[in-house]
Amino acid sequence: MLSARLHDRKVILKVKNLRKARISSIGTYVPDTIMTNADFEAILETSDEWITSRTGIKKRHIVSKDAPVPASHLGKFAGQKALKRADCAPKQVDAIICATFTPDSFFPSTACRMQELLGCTNAFAFDISAACTGFVYGITLANTLVATGQCEKVLVVGAEVISRTLDWTDRSTCILFGDGAGAVLVEVSDSEVRGIGNSCLKSDGSLGDILTLPCYGESCTMKMKGNEVFKHAVRMMSEVSHEALEASGVLVSDIDFFIPHQANIRIINSVAKQLAIPQEKVVINVAEYGNTSSASIPLALDGIWTEGKVGNGTKVLFSALGGGVTAGSVYVQF
Ligand code: ACO
Repeated sequence: MLSARLHDRKVILKVKNLRKARISSIGTYVPDTIMTNADFEAILETSDEWITSRTGIKKRHIVSKDAPVPASHLGKFAGQKALKRADCAPKQVDAIICATFTPDSFFPSTACRMQELLGCTNAFAFDISAACTGFVYGITLANTLVATGQCEKVLVVGAEVISRTLDWTDRSTCILFGDGAGAVLVEVSDSEVRGIGNSCLKSDGSLGDILTLPCYGESCTMKMKGNEVFKHAVRMMSEVSHEALEASGVLVSDIDFFIPHQANIRIINSVAKQLAIPQEKVVINVAEYGNTSSASIPLALDGIWTEGKVGNGTKVLFSALGGGVTAGSVYVQF
């Protein structure tokens, strides 16, 4: 029975008894244009060797500089794939949550634009701003909406056009990022065990200045204290991961796959080492996409999903850190 009753596009939120929510589908999209480390060698004093050894990144997809598209369009393509995979009609979606730090505009929200582009006319839609942790925050919110019976189907989208926020003369930041989008559908689980477990979400505004992107002023490009970000990313991602697992009653050794935010290979390896998760369980695609912020975890999940490695109880832990700073981890059993 639908718990979200629809009246002229308004959704009545009604808390019911708790039930298990699950991630039922996924779709991703990256732009066609690829920028390799060699392309950076041509415009900056840098090298493939430096970028690869410090970050693990080899290439990244970016929107065309000649014909740029906004985040909502990348999100639309990812969302369409997720809905198609789940055989879900757009009108069945109750809510769209878009995690992005590169919205199309201050308002309308990128989620509202996607609602229109996807034809999800019965959904309410809003953005969340938690930078690279946005997808983990979004899954947690979607879980709450479905688990409490307020929504049946929630589309969570991480969509970023980071290339438009970069100072292309700053070699310490512009080499790190790529554009892309990933969407998952969250709906009620048919199992009391399999589904989205507990999350640990944290924020520390006192560290806000280590990674910034101002809205106003002359310098509206990303600024980063790389060493500080590195240090806090390893510490906080390890902390929230431990806490999400503990809250879910799951041991580190039970995890089949660890999907960290794909910031750079050294952060990923350091967090995995702190958590004592063996390398073969760590999902890494940073070489191919760079850091796509809120899209990075769904892009990594889609990789193992498409390879048929997810399902029948697969235990996965997501973990991220982002500007704010924000940090979050969520445990999911597929
Ligand atoms: N090519 C060549 N040299 C470079 C480059 C580059 N692309 N970028 C910086 N350098 C130089 C610096 O200018 C510096 O030169 P100097 O010694 O002559 O002054 C030298 O390399 C060392 O600079 P550091 O900043 O100390 O280099 P570090 O080893 O810390 O690596 C890096 C920099 C890769 C940014 C690292 O700090 C890092 O990975 N930080 C994490 C940042 C991150 O992942 N941010 C993503 C956003 S937040 C998130 O997603 C969690």
